[in-house]
Amino acid sequence: MLKNDQLDQWDRENFFHPSTHLAQHARGESPNRVIKTASGVFIEDRDGNRLLDAFAGLYCVNVGYGRQEVAEAIAAQAKELAYYHAYVGHGTEASITLAKMILDRAPKNMSKVYFGLGGSDANETNVKLVWYVNNILGRPEKKKIISRWRGYHGSGLVTGSLTGLELFHKKFDLPLAQVIHTEAPYYYRRKDLNQSEAEFVAHCVAELEALIEREGADTIAAFIGEPVLGTGGIVPPPAGYWDAIQKVLRKHDILLIADEVVTGFGRLGTMFGSDHYGMEPDIITIAKGMTSAYAPLSGSIVSDKVWKVLEKGTDENGAIGHGWTYSAHPIGAAAGVANLKLIDDLKLVQNAGEVGAYLKKTMTEALGDHANVGDIRGEGMLCAVEFVEDRAERRFFDPAKKIGPQVSATLLAQDKVIARAMPQGDILGFAPPFCLTKAEADTVVAATARAVRTVLG
Ligand SMILES: Cc1ncc(COP(=O)(O)O)c(C=O)c1O
Repeated sequence: MLKNDQLDQWDRENFFHPSTHLAQHARGESPNRVIKTASGVFIEDRDGNRLLDAFAGLYCVNVGYGRQEVAEAIAAQAKELAYYHAYVGHGTEASITLAKMILDRAPKNMSKVYFGLGGSDANETNVKLVWYVNNILGRPEKKKIISRWRGYHGSGLVTGSLTGLELFHKKFDLPLAQVIHTEAPYYYRRKDLNQSEAEFVAHCVAELEALIEREGADTIAAFIGEPVLGTGGIVPPPAGYWDAIQKVLRKHDILLIADEVVTGFGRLGTMFGSDHYGMEPDIITIAKGMTSAYAPLSGSIVSDKVWKVLEKGTDENGAIGHGWTYSAHPIGAAAGVANLKLIDDLKLVQNAGEVGAYLKKTMTEALGDHANVGDIRGEGMLCAVEFVEDRAERRFFDPAKKIGPQVSATLLAQDKVIARAMPQGDILGFAPPFCLTKAEADTVVAATARAVRTVLG
C-alpha cells in the first residue's frame, strides 16, 4: 500500500465491494488494485503495472479492451439521446437494431428479445416469464425450476438460488423453495471413478428422472443450465449430455432455459453454445458478451412457443407487468450494436475457436504430466486446470490449503498474468478476450507452468 494514499483510504472507508472479504478489505489486510486503463488483452493499474488479463474481466470483455469503435458509439449515443424508456412500445434506433442483430444470430425458433441490465436480472426475468406462461396455460402448480449443482445464474434471491454453489447460499437463507438442484455434468468429479463418460451421462439422466419423479412433473416448469459450466469450474459437458437431458425435459413438458451469459456471442467458437451442443432452448439468457461489458446490458431471448403464450397473456390480462427503468438503455444498446459489428468484422468468433484450441493444447503440453494436475479441459476460449494432491487416486487437496488461489496469486506476482481461482475447488480458470493471439497464449501458458512449479514443485 502506498503511504498517505488518499484513494486507498477512501476505498477502505467507503466502498462496499462485491464478492470480497469485507472485514479484511476494510482493515487494509487484502490488496486493492486501482485499474486505470486497458488495451487489447492488457489492463494497467495506477502504479503502472501492466497485466495480461486472461479472464477478460469476468469473462466479459470479449472484443478486448480499448476498442474505440465501441467507445465512440457510446459517446455518440450519449450526445444524441442518453436515455428514453422502452415502456409502452417506445424504442430507439439502437435498441431496435440490436434486437434485430441478436435474432439474426440466435438459434432457430427464437422470436423476441427482452432487454435488462445484467445476467442476474435476466434470469430473474426468465423465471417470471416461465411462471407467467404456466399461469396462462392454466397449470398454476407447474412452477419449480431445476438447476444443477455448480451452475451459476446470478446472485439475486431467485438467481442466487438457481446458482448451485455453497458460498452463494450460506447465511442468505437460500435456495428458495421453488428451486431444486440436480447433478452437475462434471465427469472429472464423478463419484464412481469406474464410470465411463457414457455411463456418467446415464447417471446424470437417472438423477434428473428421479428428481422429477420425486417432485412430480406437474410441479416443474423449467430446467436452467449453462451450455458449459462456468463459475462452477469451467466444465464442458460430457459427450451426449445435452441430447439426453433434452429428451427427458421434452417427455415431461419442462422448458429449457439456456444460460448463455458466458457462452453467448462466440466464446465457444460458435455464436451460441446452444448451436454448439444442439440445444433447443425455450429461453436464452444473454449479457456479458453482448456489449463486451462496455456498458451494462442483458437480455432474454424467447422462443416462438413462449412468445405466443405471452401474447395470449396480454390479450387476456393487459400489458405485461414487468419492466425496468433501464430496460433497453440506449447507451447499452449502442454499445451492443458496435460490439456485434466488431465481432463480425474482426472474425473474433473464429479466433476464439482457433486460439482457444491452441491455448488448451499448449496448456496440456506444458502441464499435462505434472503430478498435481488432474485435469485440463476447455472449449473455445475457455480453459481450466484442476489441481489434485494425488492424480492416480484423484484425491483433492484440503480446501484450507487454498492451492487454486495460491497458484493464481503467484501467476500474478511472478508474471503479471490474471487467471481466476474458481470459487469451489482448486481450479484455475482462463477465459481471455477473443482477440488473444497465439503469442499471448504462449505467454499465458509459460507463466502458468512457472506458477504451478513455484507453488507445487
Ligand atoms: C452463466 C451466468 N449467468 C448469470 C450470471 C450473472 O450475471 P451478472 O453478474 O451480470 O448478474 C453470470 C455471471 O457471471 C454467469 O456467468
